[in-house]
Amino acid sequence: MRIIKAKDYADMSKKAAAIIAAQITMKPDCVLGLATGSTPEGLYAELVKMYEAGELDFSNVQSVNLDEYKGLPRDNDQSYYYFMNHHLFSHVNIDKANTNLPDGTIEDSEEACAQYNAILDSFGGADIQLLGIGHNGHIGFNEPADTFELLTHCVDLQESTIKANQRFFASYDDVPKQAYTMGIKNIMDAKMVLLVANGEGKADIVKEAFFGPVTPQVPASILQLHKNVVLVADEAALSKVEL
Ligand code: GLP
Repeated sequence: MRIIKAKDYADMSKKAAAIIAAQITMKPDCVLGLATGSTPEGLYAELVKMYEAGELDFSNVQSVNLDEYKGLPRDNDQSYYYFMNHHLFSHVNIDKANTNLPDGTIEDSEEACAQYNAILDSFGGADIQLLGIGHNGHIGFNEPADTFELLTHCVDLQESTIKANQRFFASYDDVPKQAYTMGIKNIMDAKMVLLVANGEGKADIVKEAFFGPVTPQVPASILQLHKNVVLVADEAALSKVEL
């Protein structure tokens, strides 16, 4: 695992965007595994800037997103479909037909997950998978559990996750209670994993995930077994780790 220490959120965003930009430059038809949440927003803004400056071409890029709330229409501004368009896809020359997210509007979980697994299978793993991390160690929406779920599945979100994401919704009741997420194997199939974390609030979980035991109770800890992981985190998120 490589750890890249950034000064602050802006620096983390720039450094992580540079890694994704290098991937697109090296392989213009790469498969980007993308993530939502507040942490990667700055990174997407940096990628948009690079595109606008003529430094990046997304025309042959394909993408797969980690997760999506179940039951939110795609035009709901809290759906991850909306998020990706708002923060990245609408601002660059990616072909929307080449972008993929689990379809949260499909009511039948089995069908939704089978459909997304088939899409992921057709790619055989992302070239680079971007991840954030939840306070409980979740990646995508893989919540702490007794076993690692391998493939795309429907999750009952934990109380702590619903509360953490409540800030984006009008009220607790408006936060969806279920989501579709890539499973751990889908994530581990990526050739490279790039995890971004910032702020003091993530310091404990960064330490636990990357330096504690590998356990499904801390889903991100599985990344210790991946052979090409880069953690880009700011000083605050790395404050509990000795480097
Ligand atoms: C959400 C997302 C994750 C994200 C995490 C952290 O629930 N499903 O993909 O990494 O929570 O979010 P944030 O970056 O806002 O702290």
